[in-house]
Amino acid sequence: MVKRIAVLPGDGIGREVMDGAVRVLKAVSDCFGHDFKYTEGLIGGAAIDAAGTPLPKATLDVCKESDAILLGAVGGPKWADVSPNIRPEKGLLAIRKALGLFANLRPVTAYSQLINASPLKKEIIENVDLLIVRELTGGIYFGEPSERRGKNKEIAVDTLLYDKEEVHRIVEKAFQFAQARSKKLTSVDKANVLESSRMWREVVDAVSAGYPDVKVEHMLVDSAAMKLIQSPEDFDVIVTENMFGDILSDEASIIAGSLGMLPSASLRSDNVGLYEPVHGSAPDIAGENKANPLAMMLSAAMMLRHSFQMEKEALAVENAVSAVLNEGCHTADLNIPSGHCVGTDEMIQKVVEHINENHAISGILAA
Ligand code: NAD
Ligand code: IPM
Ligand code: MN
Repeated sequence: MVKRIAVLPGDGIGREVMDGAVRVLKAVSDCFGHDFKYTEGLIGGAAIDAAGTPLPKATLDVCKESDAILLGAVGGPKWADVSPNIRPEKGLLAIRKALGLFANLRPVTAYSQLINASPLKKEIIENVDLLIVRELTGGIYFGEPSERRGKNKEIAVDTLLYDKEEVHRIVEKAFQFAQARSKKLTSVDKANVLESSRMWREVVDAVSAGYPDVKVEHMLVDSAAMKLIQSPEDFDVIVTENMFGDILSDEASIIAGSLGMLPSASLRSDNVGLYEPVHGSAPDIAGENKANPLAMMLSAAMMLRHSFQMEKEALAVENAVSAVLNEGCHTADLNIPSGHCVGTDEMIQKVVEHINENHAISGILAA
């Protein structure tokens, strides 16, 4: 059956890394006999330039008609001074909200091949495999209506608002993931200060009654930020509100060695999802063939797994990434003195070759 994929490269390195996702998916569809249909759409600064808005209706329509969406990254200095209502980042927030993608999964893995790329000690990070479950369509990012958000010459206001149901559905999702993993959930909040966090805790405690086998702990976000790099192996599933999750996930990228290694999936209750790297458009290296495409390619693997239930195809991508890292190949963002430093294009090419080779070998072994 044909799978329709919306492809939104966005800005800066978004287009360069998206090339990686589409090329690995083409290798996967050739090897495994799938029919993927790609439709490109504009978002972010590219859409502002072409259509005067960061999320044109045509793009949203393509996304609504698709089985899954791939997104590169949005933003850049070119659009730093546009009106706040049409900033590139508004397009990203608007698509998440319009599609109801409230559950953002951000897995963090310490690849053994990249252990030395992290400034953290080997023994602290070597067994890390954690999942940040970030609430994505509520909280301070979406303090509407306008009296809850705005700025004049003297004051500026943002509002952190959650209703119970918004908290309930993300917490429930996190418990489900925790139950399927190592049955440990850390809920991160600021309940010593924020009312919204106090409600968040109540909801976590109420939902936990339905998951007696999952061990729950509450942690304040400032302390969590410290413990995340002091003893990251103590965490398995972390659930938290929108902005805390944004900040903690960039911090956690240091465990993996680079922001260029972290993929993400943004889901709602059915299988439709949007898949994007955790990183941004990296204007400092855009157009230089330096971007690490692995976070985007691993996001495509998450799409295969979560939206298409194609587990062996997802593993084919993940194993190919691992095989390339085994060869000592890495992009310049990974601070590894040894090995072979390659550009974006060569990295993509190598992953594609591994997918094809591994598939050919498994065909021979099966014969
Ligand atoms: P950034 O994530 O773009 O870059 C931070 C640093 O990490 C930079 O030094 C960059 O070169 C490096 N980096 C990021 N991804 C990399 C990759 N794949 N390979 C190699 N190096 C990589 O964050 P920023 O510079 O703060 O933001 C730039 C723009 O991106 C802003 O407009 C911001 O709003 C936007 N942004 C967009 C998204 C998104 O679209 N999902 C996410 C974060 C930031
Ligand atoms: C992310 C980004 C976005 C966010 C920005 C660009 C709106 O930082 O996806 O992590 O804060 O959600
Ligand atoms: Mn972010």
